[in-house]
Amino acid sequence: MSRLDARRILIGVTGGIAAYKSAELIRLLRKENAEVRVVMTPAASEFITPMTLQALSGNPVRQSLFDQAHEAAMGHIELARWADLILVAPGSADFMARIAHGLANDLLTTLCLAAEAPLVIAPAMNQAMWRNAATQANRQTLVERGILIWGPDEGSQACGETGLGRMLEPTELLDRTVDQLSGGRLSGVGVLLTAGPTREPIDPVRFIGNRSSGKMGFSLARAFAAAGARVVLVSGPVAQSTPVGVQRIDVETAAEMHVAVMDQVAACDIFVACAAVADYRPVEVHDQKIKKLEEQLDIRLERNPDILAGVAALQPPPFTVGFAAETHRPVEYAEQKRRNKRVDMIAANLVGAAEGGFERDENALTVLWDGGDLELPMSDKGVLAERLVTVIAEHYEQKYRTENT
Ligand code: PMT
Repeated sequence: MSRLDARRILIGVTGGIAAYKSAELIRLLRKENAEVRVVMTPAASEFITPMTLQALSGNPVRQSLFDQAHEAAMGHIELARWADLILVAPGSADFMARIAHGLANDLLTTLCLAAEAPLVIAPAMNQAMWRNAATQANRQTLVERGILIWGPDEGSQACGETGLGRMLEPTELLDRTVDQLSGGRLSGVGVLLTAGPTREPIDPVRFIGNRSSGKMGFSLARAFAAAGARVVLVSGPVAQSTPVGVQRIDVETAAEMHVAVMDQVAACDIFVACAAVADYRPVEVHDQKIKKLEEQLDIRLERNPDILAGVAALQPPPFTVGFAAETHRPVEYAEQKRRNKRVDMIAANLVGAAEGGFERDENALTVLWDGGDLELPMSDKGVLAERLVTVIAEHYEQKYRTENT
């Protein structure tokens, strides 16, 4: 049996040099027995002919919203309803901008607006265009609305530059399509995540906190949900919107985060500790605002419970992933934490004024596990989260398979 028997996939092709790869993608989808229909934007046909895609898909290619023959029966609505999945590959910066702003000024954008099927965009563009603040703001808007963004990949580009912006390879897009239509690679898997900072009260108006914005943890929650997992996110105080399909539990202190995690952990298969949890809290919490009377003020602190180590010590533990935020020697200290806390995997990042990690939109990670490591270079936290979820899924599946054989 083929992996996409009778599944209906609408391929959108927009204007970009990667349009030549759509031909291979369509061929691969058909080989898996998918029904494929193609819609091209006017710019796309500057890069590849409709005739090629018609021959490969086995169906007429639609290009115009104002096609009298098709639109007599509201063809764009019919197409939108027909699809099990809409995959726009390549998705140009212009297409992302138009969808982010709700424009319906050609057939492809119109049917994307009218569709209820999952919409996936595989971006492809010059690396500077991808990094441009406008494109990133559009990407963020799309992701927050539940649109799936697959890629882009890193490497050399047709324009001669190198960086993030290459469309994912057709084989990768095929595998992701299969996963998506079967509910996602992590379909049925429970993921519990922590994110954001904790606040440890000193008095009713002051607390000990840290610079975590929650961006990394919320991006991970979004990427796990997009991979089909059931996601519970325990978050400290942050200004992030809850990703579509994610159950969020808000807490303030490390002790509250500990209780919330221990309440939820039995139902999870994977636990990821991305929160920047305060290691210490004030021994005494004043019930009135402390007055400015003394030249010096001592605040005695006591240790908070280590949530990550506590989860890893459960019998049996979930697949457990920690983070290590370090200002120097990140890999060395992260490896110590991995061993001491007995976690399956740890992601090290540099933090501090010059390095980022905290607060910024971009981050870089070194992922460590028993006997291996992987560098995930500096990129947008959304893209980085997708990559980390893929690594976690691979190792989780490997461990699960090994334990069940
Ligand atoms: O939120 P952003 O602004 O996007 O920033 C992202 C980030 C820098 C916060 C994130 O990438 C990160 O590194 N998170 C972990 C921060 C941290 O507390 O690291 P740590 O090295 O102090 O702790 C090691 C691990 O133990 C972490 O997984 C932490 O969640 C966990 N821990 C720590 C103390 C504690 N009491 N309980 C814990 O579970």
